[in-house]
Amino acid sequence: MQLKILPRNIADMIAAGEVVQRPSSVVKELMENAVDAGADQISVTVTDAGRTLIQVIDNGCGMSPDDAVLCFERHATSKIATAEDLQEITTFGFRGEALASIAAVADVVLRTRREEDEVGVEVEISGSEHLSTREVAAPKGSNFAVRNLFYNIPARRKFLKSDTVEFRHIVEEFQRVALTRPEIGFTLTHNGRDVHVLKPAKSLKFRIMDLLGAGVVGEVVDIAADTSLVRVHGFVGRPESAKKTLGNQFLFVNGRYFRSAYLHKAVMKAYEALIPEGTTPSYFIFLEVDPSSIDVNIHPTKTEIKFEEDSVIFQTLYACVREATARGGAGGDIDFDNPEAREMPVIGPRFDEYRPVSIPTAGVDPDYNPFMVGDKYLDERDFHPEIPFYGEPQRPSYTVDKHEDYGKLFEDRTMPTAQVLVVQGKYIFSQSASGVMVVNVRRARERILFDRFLKVLSEDVPVSQSTLFPVQVNVGIQGRLLFDAHQDLLKRLGFDIEAFGSDTVVVNGVPEGYVTDPGKVHTMVGDLILILNDDHGALPEMMVQSLAQKFAVLGASGGEKLSSPVEAQRLLDALLGSTNPEFTSSGRRIISILPLDEIDKRF
Ligand SMILES: Nc1ncnc2c1ncn2[C@@H]1O[C@H](COP(=O)(O)OP(=O)(O)OP(=O)(O)O)[C@@H](O)[C@H]1O
Ligand SMILES: [Mg+2]
Repeated sequence: MQLKILPRNIADMIAAGEVVQRPSSVVKELMENAVDAGADQISVTVTDAGRTLIQVIDNGCGMSPDDAVLCFERHATSKIATAEDLQEITTFGFRGEALASIAAVADVVLRTRREEDEVGVEVEISGSEHLSTREVAAPKGSNFAVRNLFYNIPARRKFLKSDTVEFRHIVEEFQRVALTRPEIGFTLTHNGRDVHVLKPAKSLKFRIMDLLGAGVVGEVVDIAADTSLVRVHGFVGRPESAKKTLGNQFLFVNGRYFRSAYLHKAVMKAYEALIPEGTTPSYFIFLEVDPSSIDVNIHPTKTEIKFEEDSVIFQTLYACVREATARGGAGGDIDFDNPEAREMPVIGPRFDEYRPVSIPTAGVDPDYNPFMVGDKYLDERDFHPEIPFYGEPQRPSYTVDKHEDYGKLFEDRTMPTAQVLVVQGKYIFSQSASGVMVVNVRRARERILFDRFLKVLSEDVPVSQSTLFPVQVNVGIQGRLLFDAHQDLLKRLGFDIEAFGSDTVVVNGVPEGYVTDPGKVHTMVGDLILILNDDHGALPEMMVQSLAQKFAVLGASGGEKLSSPVEAQRLLDALLGSTNPEFTSSGRRIISILPLDEIDKRF
């Protein structure tokens, strides 16, 4: 064996992999640099979810022609100079890694000019190689255009998810930075469309409103605490607004977004018994600590933070969130009519009641991230374990092939004149040749819907629809984007859902068999978001199967209670006509027979 030093370009590519994992990493690093440069207006333009172009333009301090070349060198930073500075980091950046990493895996063009310079400079670099430098006219500030990301790492490029998923990551990074600096104006444009246009905001609450919609802001109360170790401010969701969708959970320390399973637990513990299992409240929590009491440099993307006194922070956070949830609506509302209202109310009178708090004994997995399972975001399977995961071992799936036999089987079992009995709206009992046949209503509906959706998606047949009295649902800007991106799919399946404003949709119609009770439509829309949010980037046939399945499970879970024998008979007829009346598409039994001899044995 012989040791060799790797050539510089390969070493750079490896190092880049740590910092630049996907297009959203580039957006994050460039936005953070623009903030560090003192800009008050930052615009982000993205094409094809960042595959083709990511451009970040700021009006910050700009760079001299020399620095414009130097900034792409590894360890080139203007933000720290000494080892002591590392203890007191107040900027986003400090390692001089980001631009070098981006330039190693993409084509980059930088145009920049400082206030004091007459002309600007344009630097072109590709795969760490400096291609050109020339003088150009440029406004004050910096303009980074990153093209063809991962052009030299085909494996990375291939493993990027669908545009919907990659763009969702970009929006998340954008929001995380935009929330930390309400005073800065930000815009985000995707494929020529404005996604966010954020004017400089008077305060955090206005920024949240501009960014996530008035709906989110209406559902939160403020939190505040001030101890010798940590100052806490921000907003947490009212318990009744907790949602099955993950999304608006934000933790920041000293103006930097970070993830922490441990502190997430502190928040969730404060909601214990206040919210239904499987739901998560939104929260926007800002911690201020002495910069020397944290270590930001423990993870390549700087989104994990080590706190010196993490158990004390856990307790403080728990206590102040608990206090806010107990206070509920009283006095905690954001007062939009009075812009002069205090941004951070003093700590609530009941704060002390919740202290001291016993030190949590739960074991902590430092790698655990509440939002990810492995490399995967939590999806609806985590909330509905009955949905199988295509690609994993699962129960045999009994589909199509023996259509006729199933029909025969069914006939054998039902007597032509059989009476049906509906039990609890959940089961249909009917006489069969050898005993009593029991049909699980929900699963029967799931089978029928699955067949229908599969047909709709693979053969493009027309769908039947139930129309509703229009129901307006606030879905947030992210949700609205999801509905936009999946317009065609939803229409084909039989949904009639219109966009309304930037963060709301109006439901006019749903596929036949779906809920029609306006009160339940809200929940249905939430579940719809969970499905749309998932990555459907897999093989096309699998995608159609898995979509049909998810929409069938969703439809069957919300359907009206079966009440009359006439409806029951209709359902049985439809089931009989399905591709497999015995099992759902995930292999669950729909029909069970109670044999006569077993009934005999009971007497
Ligand atoms: N938009 C910008 N405006 C002005 N100067 C910039 C801009 N972006 C980068 N720079 C300069 O280039 C240097 C290198 O940027 P880079 O992001 O690679 O490192 P960093 O921000 O110092 O640290 P980190 O790797 O932790 O982000 C910065 O320290 C800064 O001096
Ligand atoms: Mg940086």
